Amino acid sequence: MELKTRMRRLRRTEGLRRMVRETRLDAADLVYPLFVHDFEKNEPVASMPGVMRRSVKDLVRECREAFDSGIPAVALFPVIDPAKKDPRGTHALSSDNLLFRALREAKAAVPELVLIADAALDPYTDHGHDGVLTEDGHEVDNDATVEILRDLSVREAEAGADIVAPSDMMDGRVGAIRAALDAAGRTDTCIMAYAAKFASAYYGPFREAVGSAQGTPISKATYQLDPANLREALREVELDEREGADMVMVKPAGPYLDVIRSVREHTKLPLAAYQVSGEYAQIHAAARAGWLDYEKCRDESLLAIKRAGADLIITYFAREVAERLRCI
Ligand code: PBG
Repeated sequence: MELKTRMRRLRRTEGLRRMVRETRLDAADLVYPLFVHDFEKNEPVASMPGVMRRSVKDLVRECREAFDSGIPAVALFPVIDPAKKDPRGTHALSSDNLLFRALREAKAAVPELVLIADAALDPYTDHGHDGVLTEDGHEVDNDATVEILRDLSVREAEAGADIVAPSDMMDGRVGAIRAALDAAGRTDTCIMAYAAKFASAYYGPFREAVGSAQGTPISKATYQLDPANLREALREVELDEREGADMVMVKPAGPYLDVIRSVREHTKLPLAAYQVSGEYAQIHAAARAGWLDYEKCRDESLLAIKRAGADLIITYFAREVAERLRCI
């Protein structure tokens, strides 16, 4: 057959394939989410093999090792004692909030590691919502929640957070947090906005991990994005950018690659994508059943997110993938 163009020529050997590879994973792309609780012993999260609720001490050790493996940043999520939860999430602003202690200790032990603090109320509210409810209890109160998030963000910055990451999806919170940080003299604290956060069923295992499964009939769909909407996601990104976000995020990642691509084309800000707990769990589950090759699917899932346009990937696989990247 006379063929001038043979695409297979460049695919013949691994050497050739490496030369023409368009996307590469790097440890510097990875952000490692970690759960911290107030006990001496770690506790596994059943639906997330390999993921633990860690003691502060073990969290600090894991932070150091993650940094040594080339990971630039960790995202910390506290697991709060149910006895400290109430409808208003009061404990969030308490000076003995576990998250502040974890931030202080991690910053002292590994100062070069970038610390990202979650700014939302769901770890602290007994109903599991990301904000406080209106008086009649029928809705999550946007403006009252933003007031609390302002204070929470400032305290997180004071405890050592380099980046605060509002994951609540209240309107106007990025601008309000920026103003509050600046007023507190924290002009250098960055905001990574969960800009396009969808009301996704893939968050299930995370809610088990932090104990935030919702006990009210209110749906998170009243504040998180409808999974059907791309244009609305772009409006969210635009608003957060205008309000002063330093980085924006799309979440979940794998089922929303089109959103990642589109956001990449609409903003010049660094773009993070959060490969969430359910994405992690489904790869583990299928591999355990013997139905998928664990490492290959893990790596392919991350490469696809990067190829779609993400600069950073927040992933529970971060540590093991960074270790593997060191070896190749
Ligand atoms: C809530 C929050 C959620 C996640 C991160 N922050 C869950 C939710 O919105 O209910 C999910 C992360 C994951 O599934 O890995 N502020």
